[in-house]
Amino acid sequence: MKLRIRIVAAAILLVVVVCAACERKPRQIGAPQSGSPAPVSSVSADAAAAAQSAHVVYAAPSAAVKAVLNAQELYVKNCAACHQVNGQGIPPVFPPLAASSYVVGANVERLASIMLYGLIGPVHVNGVLYNGAMVGLGPVLSDEKLSAIATYVRTSWLNKTEPVDPGVFAEMRKKWGSRGPFLISELGEDK
Ligand code: HEC
Repeated sequence: MKLRIRIVAAAILLVVVVCAACERKPRQIGAPQSGSPAPVSSVSADAAAAAQSAHVVYAAPSAAVKAVLNAQELYVKNCAACHQVNGQGIPPVFPPLAASSYVVGANVERLASIMLYGLIGPVHVNGVLYNGAMVGLGPVLSDEKLSAIATYVRTSWLNKTEPVDPGVFAEMRKKWGSRGPFLISELGEDK
C-alpha cells in the first residue's frame, strides 16, 4: 500500500515539474527582447529559429527547364515587340498568337512558312482583320531556334499543342527557296 502511494506521489511530482518546464519555455524566449511585448517577440523569435534551422536546398535547373527558358528568351527577343509577351498582340495592328489557328492548328508547315518568310496583306485572326506586314526571320534565325520559338508559342498562354521539329523549317526553306513575305491566300486562310 505504502509503495503504491509513493509511486502515485512521484508521478504527480513528475507531472508538476514537466508542466512548470513547459510554461517557462515561451517566457524564456520572449524575455531577452526587452521593451517589445512578450507575445510578439516570442512569435518572431520562434520564426527566426525556424528559419535558421530550415535548410532549403535548391536543385540546379534541369535541361528541360533551361530549354524552356531559352525558348522564352528567343520569343521575347524576336516576336514580343509586336505579338507581346502575353501573346495577345495589339489588335487591330499586331495579331495575337494566343488561341490563333495559325499557331495551334495542325498545319505546322504554314506556321513555319510565316515565321521564315513573313506575311503581308489582309488576314483574319480570331475574327479581326489585320492588314499589315511581318518580315520573316528565316535569314536571321537557325532552324533550331525557330523550332524552339514555334514550340514555345504552341505551348504557352493556354495554347496546348505538339512541339515543332527543326526539320519542318529545313523542309520549308527547301520548298520555297529565296522569296519575300507570303499573302495568306498562298498558304490558306482560316476564317
Ligand atoms: C515587327 C512586328 C512583328 C514581329 C517582330 C513578328 N511579327 Fe508576326 N506578325 C506581325 C504582323 C503585322 C502580322 C500580320 C501580317 C498581315 O497583316 O498580313 C503577323 C502575323 C503573324 C502570324 C499569323 C497571324 C497570327 O497572329 O497567328 C504568325 C503565326 C506570326 N506572326 C508569328 C510570329 C512569330 C513566331 C514571331 C517571332 C519569331 C513574329 N511573328 C514576329 C508582326 C510581327
